[in-house]
Amino acid sequence: PIYNDYFFNESAYDYHDGGYVPLEKYDSPTVPLNIPEILKPDKETDTDVWLTVHAQPGETQIVPGPKTKTWGYNQSLLGKTIVFKSGKTYHVTLKNTLPELTTFHWHGLDVPGPFIDGGCHAPVYPGEAKEITFKVDQPASTTWLHAHPCPLTGWDVWHGLAAMAYVKDEHEASLPIPHNYGVDDIPVVLQDRRFHEDNQWDYDGDYDPDGTAGPTAMLNGTVNPEFDVTTQKLRVRFLDGSNRREWRLHLSDDLVMTQIASDGGLLPEPVQMTKFMITCAERAEFILDFKDYKPGDKVSLYSDDMPILTFNIKEFAKDDTEIPEHLADTSYPDPEPNAHVHQVVMSGTDEEVMLNGKKFGMMRIDDRQELGKSEYWDITNTNDCCGGMLHPYHMHGGSFQIVSRNGEAPYPNELGYKDTVSVNPGETVRIKMKFNYEGVFMYHCHIIEHEDGGMMAQMQVWTKEEPEKKYDLMAMDTL
Ligand code: C2O
Ligand code: CU
Ligand code: CU
Repeated sequence: PIYNDYFFNESAYDYHDGGYVPLEKYDSPTVPLNIPEILKPDKETDTDVWLTVHAQPGETQIVPGPKTKTWGYNQSLLGKTIVFKSGKTYHVTLKNTLPELTTFHWHGLDVPGPFIDGGCHAPVYPGEAKEITFKVDQPASTTWLHAHPCPLTGWDVWHGLAAMAYVKDEHEASLPIPHNYGVDDIPVVLQDRRFHEDNQWDYDGDYDPDGTAGPTAMLNGTVNPEFDVTTQKLRVRFLDGSNRREWRLHLSDDLVMTQIASDGGLLPEPVQMTKFMITCAERAEFILDFKDYKPGDKVSLYSDDMPILTFNIKEFAKDDTEIPEHLADTSYPDPEPNAHVHQVVMSGTDEEVMLNGKKFGMMRIDDRQELGKSEYWDITNTNDCCGGMLHPYHMHGGSFQIVSRNGEAPYPNELGYKDTVSVNPGETVRIKMKFNYEGVFMYHCHIIEHEDGGMMAQMQVWTKEEPEKKYDLMAMDTL
């Protein structure tokens, strides 16, 4: 089948929200979509790789006129794309030359918490550099790096601290799908901003406790981007890197998009659709097939009714490869019959947001799960008044499988591994979660101002050897 709807409850879309900022056309010429360079390793052996990720301030020409003051990783805005090879050990130097502390969170990477994971307990102070070491051992996927200092994640990400981080493996490399970075396999980081006087951003001025948004779509740091399509098939890796915005994507002529991967890697089977909604922090990979277009044609990508990216069709060679009907095996062990079912309740709006009736406490451990055991987590969104709002629920520490939505089957494109799932108002989503590393991990709504506002908690993954292990957690007021 070809699906033609966004799956989620329309009554909860962000455009029903009082503070909704509609996208507007920014009056500037079309420019080529930025394709970030791939971060070069400092050193590499058969088994180990050394990288430096440098959070730095800078200035970026985003729109005509004065440059915008921005932050980035190894560049002035956003970051170079980091490529991890599954099976290798990484030694990453985290360097901070920003005027304030930050953290380096590997969203979607399966690593120990809380220090390597890079949540709020792992600050890197201005002028400091720290090395972390971890082994990457997970399926090929599109993950990302972003800053996560609590409660300033919204501020940091708005300034530009977000980058793509791909995981590669042999299975994905062997499939007949596009793999040529920047040519037929492109990243698209979806963000929105408001350009104020002298083209500057003003996070505090635009701040909204239900999620900060701006009217101008910015894709990979480009406003009004276009991309030259030189192959029949194009693989697009979307990341919703916005603080708050949901993107309801569709193409000219209702061109079919074939989704092949979600947060944690390849879907079991490709799913075809003409409309796709992505919510904060989610990733989705699509294959677009331009076989019915000829050189000179243009295809637009829209969010709602706003064109946000133009594909310029160029000459391309015919491509008869078919996307395999089966892409990957995804199966989590079932929890033991009497295993504890964890409960997560997301409630409130604006400053009142809470998780399980509490605001986040940096020193408090709210839940526990044993290393390597699979358990259910029931995630409830109580915002059912007046249409309510969607909360994209995210867990650090690994990937989960979506079991059900209010007892019904998940959406057809939710059968792969996920680390973020949007929960409709009044809905309970059951997920199956297994942690492969020990530590303290956060879980929260990924509307970043909700997370900063306290719709967040943390849990300890414990081991038989050391069930009560103590971690040196930071208190909020030491930041
Ligand atoms: Cu994108 Cu706490 O994470
Ligand atoms: Cu995360
Ligand atoms: Cu939320």
